[in-house]
Amino acid sequence: MNARKLRKTYIDFFKARGHAEIKSAPLVPENDPTVLFTTAGMHPLVPFLLGEKHPAGTRLVNVQKCLRTGDIEEVGDTTHLTFFEMLGNWSLGDYFKEEAIRYSYEFLTDVLGLTQDRLWVSCFAGDADAPRDEEAAQAWRDLGIPEDRIVFLGKKDNWWGPAGETGPCGPDTEMFVELEQPPCGAECGITCNCGKFVEIWNDVFMQYNKTAEGRYEPLKQKNVDTGMGVERVAAVLQGKKSAYETELFAPLFRTITEISGQQNPEATRSGRIVAEHMRAATFLMGDGVRPGNVDQAYILRRLIRRAIREARMLGVRGSFAVRLADCVIREYGDVYCELKQNEGFIREEMSREEGQFSATLERGTREFNKLIESFPPHVDRKVVSGRKAFYLYETFGFPLELTVEMARERGFDVDTKGFDAAFRKHQEKSRKGAEQKFKGGLADQSERTTALHTATHLLHAALRRVLGDHVKQAGSNITAKRLRFDFTHPQKVTPEELKRVESIVNDVINDDLPIDSEEMTLKDAQDSGAIGLFGDRYGERVKVYSIGNFSMEVCGGPHAKRTGDLGKFRIRKEESSSRGVRRIKAVLE
Ligand code: SER
Repeated sequence: MNARKLRKTYIDFFKARGHAEIKSAPLVPENDPTVLFTTAGMHPLVPFLLGEKHPAGTRLVNVQKCLRTGDIEEVGDTTHLTFFEMLGNWSLGDYFKEEAIRYSYEFLTDVLGLTQDRLWVSCFAGDADAPRDEEAAQAWRDLGIPEDRIVFLGKKDNWWGPAGETGPCGPDTEMFVELEQPPCGAECGITCNCGKFVEIWNDVFMQYNKTAEGRYEPLKQKNVDTGMGVERVAAVLQGKKSAYETELFAPLFRTITEISGQQNPEATRSGRIVAEHMRAATFLMGDGVRPGNVDQAYILRRLIRRAIREARMLGVRGSFAVRLADCVIREYGDVYCELKQNEGFIREEMSREEGQFSATLERGTREFNKLIESFPPHVDRKVVSGRKAFYLYETFGFPLELTVEMARERGFDVDTKGFDAAFRKHQEKSRKGAEQKFKGGLADQSERTTALHTATHLLHAALRRVLGDHVKQAGSNITAKRLRFDFTHPQKVTPEELKRVESIVNDVINDDLPIDSEEMTLKDAQDSGAIGLFGDRYGERVKVYSIGNFSMEVCGGPHAKRTGDLGKFRIRKEESSSRGVRRIKAVLE
């Protein structure tokens, strides 16, 4: 079964069981504190897992675009991906373990045709925070899974969430397919990563809320959150060892062969990196991200630059990025229409970034030549130090292999051990940075972040009053300390304009207006003048938050009860975010 059929079959299966299909949220979360990317289908649903009412009901299903950057350096092997699609079904306080497990089992066996003797499952073994999940195990037994294929594991393996430090989480049960290959040893089992067992589905029972103090409190609403990776399942169903061998990547590899002359690029590390990163980069641009030096923009830049370097290793010389982006748009455009809608933007940005980076690589080559020439002619040991090689990597994007090759042509060696040490030191630093960044936690629905979320709506409305209706939200990120709001506006906002915006927001806060929400159809929301990122992103029914008569915006919530709860609003910074987009950071004092 190909991925196209798999998506449709999955959605149809759950629709037939009362689930409403919801759109894939963008890869860059809206109004979501401190996460850079949507990494699972549950992200955009956090408020609803915590009890907000979802306009589409209590049973939901979708295909969600996800991006995980934790293993970005691992991409190149046959298993890691940054971008992937996740099939998910949710129960928001509706059905629970028995029904969720039965649905999963029926879908795997009756619909996908996986025979029971290939399936293994794992359940939570229990610890001081939560008991052993006998309920899940019993559901599997009742379906006929033999006892020796039900494995109990601890929190590391069988617990999901919270996505940040706090929020909904719970025990999960994972499903594995056993492949026809010999076990790697006596200890080989589902936790082994030799490739014999492939985890294909995860049913999470979100029955706890982890508090900032680290306590696990039972949620008033018990939810199910499931996730099944499209690429992985497609590979299993097609009898392929890796997602890279499926039709999802085939057009990319065909094009890579055309531009590099390299046969079977899918069998090489560089080929896989080029294909994987260009697919992820195209999807990010499809959601409006431009390459840059911070946050999402920086990750996008890293993906493209790494792909360009690896393409050089494959022998590609001219520009190629747009051709690969075209492949992605062709392959996915009818499922993710934003790729088609933003085709012009994607092609333009791809080619700009590629041009810029090629110039950097040229400067790096000159730098390298200077370095070699700086050695006295009769030096005994001709070695480029690890530090210098890392400098070329970090500043000019030279992969080590390229430096080694160029050095060898000039009769030099490279201290590769020294390079590895410098690389590890750098990685450790950026890992720490990333951890800092995620510390606030996705599901931080504290009073402070909720108040800042409401302040974001006020800021948005005030900016439109002062600057004009061309102002549209281009991004939002909230931590417990500040809000950050990106919006379209062609020039710098003047200090006078900022003052006016600030005082309008504070006037509305002083007026102590009530904040109400109402569900309506998307059309009614538009007709009544609610602002929001319409396009294709919302479902049929939406929730609209009104702040007195001042602001009306499509949004999932949650929000403060009254503007008087907010405190004093102060703009701390106004700067450029990218071309045509300004960024404001503001706080509530
Ligand atoms: N959130 C869970 C996961 O990402 C299930 O969707 O695996």
